[in-house]
Amino acid sequence: MKHLFERKPLHLLLEEMKGENRLRRVLGPLHLTGLGVGAIIGTGIFVLTGVAAHDKAGPALILSFVLAGIACVFAALCYAEFASMVPIAGSAYTYAYATLGELFAWIIGWDLILEYSVASAAVAHGWSHYFQDFIGIFGLHFPLALTNAPFDFNPASGHLVATGTWFDLPAVLIVALVAAVLVVGIRESATVNTSIVVAKLAIVLFVIVVGAFYVKPANWHPFAPFGYTGVSFFGKTLLGQTGKNGEPLGVFAGAAMIFFAYIGFDSVSTHAEEAVNPQKDIPTGIITSLVVCTILYILVTAVLTGMVPYGKLSIDAPVSDAFRQVGLPWAQFLISLGAIAGITSVLLVMMLSQPRVFLAMARDGLVPESFFGAIHPRFRTPYKSTILLGVVVAAAAALVPLRILAELVNIGTLLAFVIVCAAVLIMRRKHPEAERPFRCPMVPLVPILGIAFCLLLMFSLPVENWWRLIVWLAIGFVVYFSYGRKHSVLAKRRAAAARAAADSAA
Ligand code: ALA
Repeated sequence: MKHLFERKPLHLLLEEMKGENRLRRVLGPLHLTGLGVGAIIGTGIFVLTGVAAHDKAGPALILSFVLAGIACVFAALCYAEFASMVPIAGSAYTYAYATLGELFAWIIGWDLILEYSVASAAVAHGWSHYFQDFIGIFGLHFPLALTNAPFDFNPASGHLVATGTWFDLPAVLIVALVAAVLVVGIRESATVNTSIVVAKLAIVLFVIVVGAFYVKPANWHPFAPFGYTGVSFFGKTLLGQTGKNGEPLGVFAGAAMIFFAYIGFDSVSTHAEEAVNPQKDIPTGIITSLVVCTILYILVTAVLTGMVPYGKLSIDAPVSDAFRQVGLPWAQFLISLGAIAGITSVLLVMMLSQPRVFLAMARDGLVPESFFGAIHPRFRTPYKSTILLGVVVAAAAALVPLRILAELVNIGTLLAFVIVCAAVLIMRRKHPEAERPFRCPMVPLVPILGIAFCLLLMFSLPVENWWRLIVWLAIGFVVYFSYGRKHSVLAKRRAAAARAAADSAA
């Protein structure tokens, strides 16, 4: 039993860093911050803001963004400490292995699949809808059968319904394109990302600056029509109003939903192995990208809810539609283009991060190393797992409805944040002497607040998400006990040491 909680020693992690079969160190602070911003600004701000303000929080969604931003800043400081200490590819998975042991490491690695792979599929869907809207401006359309997943979830009836289409072709095409760029190389990927990030930041600034001229402060009244709370516990509302189906409403419920908009800053830590100066630049990348995006999000939300009464915000394309509503239809074109670029870079970084987590897991024997650990001899990228990821994400994006995919992502990521904050506390206690080029300030307060805020957001999500998370983790346990446990490198080392000890005794 105790082997399940065996920890990977810190010195072993640091030794491994020096070994062969490493990724290429080419990323500087600008690239890393660009990757962070690239992963953060996308479907969340361009799409979810509408439904969250409309149905969950009203103009007080501004406070939801503040709340979710604070939770992320606490988590980001913990990520930064770990990333500077153990700058290798596995991110939260590696941190958990060093502190909480193999089983927790597996749980977090499995959970990160929810964050990166499932989010990629959700984001590819969002891309497809914006892209179809955009080409529609020029009168171009895909055949109806190739525009969407074949079924969707109807929240009113609680059943799946046929949509009359076959699959989502644009989503498949963008995933294939992104996977191809990722196989070719990290530097190419980061450069493509940096140019897209510049374009999308320009559009976000445009929204804030031009939109500010159309703000009517009267639209901010009432400010919190759904209340300032909205906290529930396994489907039971503890504080605040509830909606038609018993779901929590208010600032916290809004924060739990738009939390999706912040996901991605942590992906910077999965690139630690490709950073030129990881100890310094990874914390910079994580914190700078998060702070920049938090400020932009708060401003965008203030402008949007000030431009249009919250009840009139569009659910599908709230940002571009707000400009249409105030009489600037040309801005719609520009914003759609920005959204497409923005969502493309989210996809790029998410799909860049997942194979790096698999790589770390493969090196530990928890997933097959010959496949997930294979690095292309020329491109130095984990090409086999990138291609497999492309196939799986394309299939999920083509066939599974957006709603089901997106809901899984938030709860999985929040769980990862809780574990990373806890791991910082444990590591400080167990290895106070370890070198920490970046130290999370005010320990234990910051990690404890990180855990508390993330749990609060997890509880503010509708209860189905908890069931889905539990089912996902249960599948993970089956995989671990049937494969990972038997192939674990740490377990093999232990067995070999025991054999050697027995031989020498004989
Ligand atoms: N934060 C990313 C987005 O909003 C996942 O698209």
